[in-house]
Amino acid sequence: MMALARAVMLFVGLGATCAYAADIGYLAPPGAPAKEFPSPRRPVAQIVGPTRASEEHRDSLNEAGEIARLLELKPGMTVGDVGAGSGYHTVRLSPLVGPTGSVIAQDVTRNYLVELAKRTQRLKLTNVIFALGKPHDPRLPASFLDAAILVHMYHEIAQPYAFLYNLAPALKQGARLGIVDLERPTSEHGTPIELLRCELATVGYREIATYQLAGDGGYLAVFSPPEDGSRKSPRDIVACGNRAGAR
Ligand SMILES: C[S@@+](CC[C@H](N)C(=O)[O-])C[C@H]1O[C@@H](n2cnc3c(N)ncnc32)[C@H](O)[C@@H]1O
Repeated sequence: MMALARAVMLFVGLGATCAYAADIGYLAPPGAPAKEFPSPRRPVAQIVGPTRASEEHRDSLNEAGEIARLLELKPGMTVGDVGAGSGYHTVRLSPLVGPTGSVIAQDVTRNYLVELAKRTQRLKLTNVIFALGKPHDPRLPASFLDAAILVHMYHEIAQPYAFLYNLAPALKQGARLGIVDLERPTSEHGTPIELLRCELATVGYREIATYQLAGDGGYLAVFSPPEDGSRKSPRDIVACGNRAGAR
């Protein structure tokens, strides 16, 4: 009897995993290929895990609340949590945007999205959509997002110029892109702010503001995406070098 129960549980568990996995795919066709863009002239950090610091610690600094406040995130918005990992922000944004809004949990690591889908299911969050991406292309539909956050992940983007170029059309007119990172070399899982500014400006993003987050939370840099006419063509994008703080 116990063995039967265990087998049923295993079957249900595997079935659920397959259902989650089946739901997780690309939301849009490919954008521009990586080979059209320069590679970054600085190290790219390895993907080492789905989160940064404990959620309790982050909550003690009100990380999610501060980012939402500074980016003016509101009910009804569609917000992309790009590089969502284990979903620290996704699960906090979901109630904030409410039933008329949605959170797009996007990542390049499929298993992280599968685990996050289980987490949102346990929490009964019904407004989260999962989106798989490529290192050079978030694969998100055009004019999809009111805002996007990239939290402690920018330094892991293997092809940042192609990624930013392909992300731009997914941001609606007036949308904000918020990037959170630490002021330290990319090889040490941070991005010097001057380097970030240079890489974003090179693709045509405009800096709106930069804030210091509490404690060891790093900075939040807010950008507006290039408008249709101001997105540079891939061949005009020149990689930022040492003077921009690449280390
Ligand atoms: C350190 S985790 C941070 C997760 C989450 N944003 C947080 O603050 O806890 C970095 C995440 O970025 C993802 N990532 C790395 N490169 C990416 C890319 N090019 N596009 C989307 N996600 C990426 C990794 O798979 C990982 O889940």
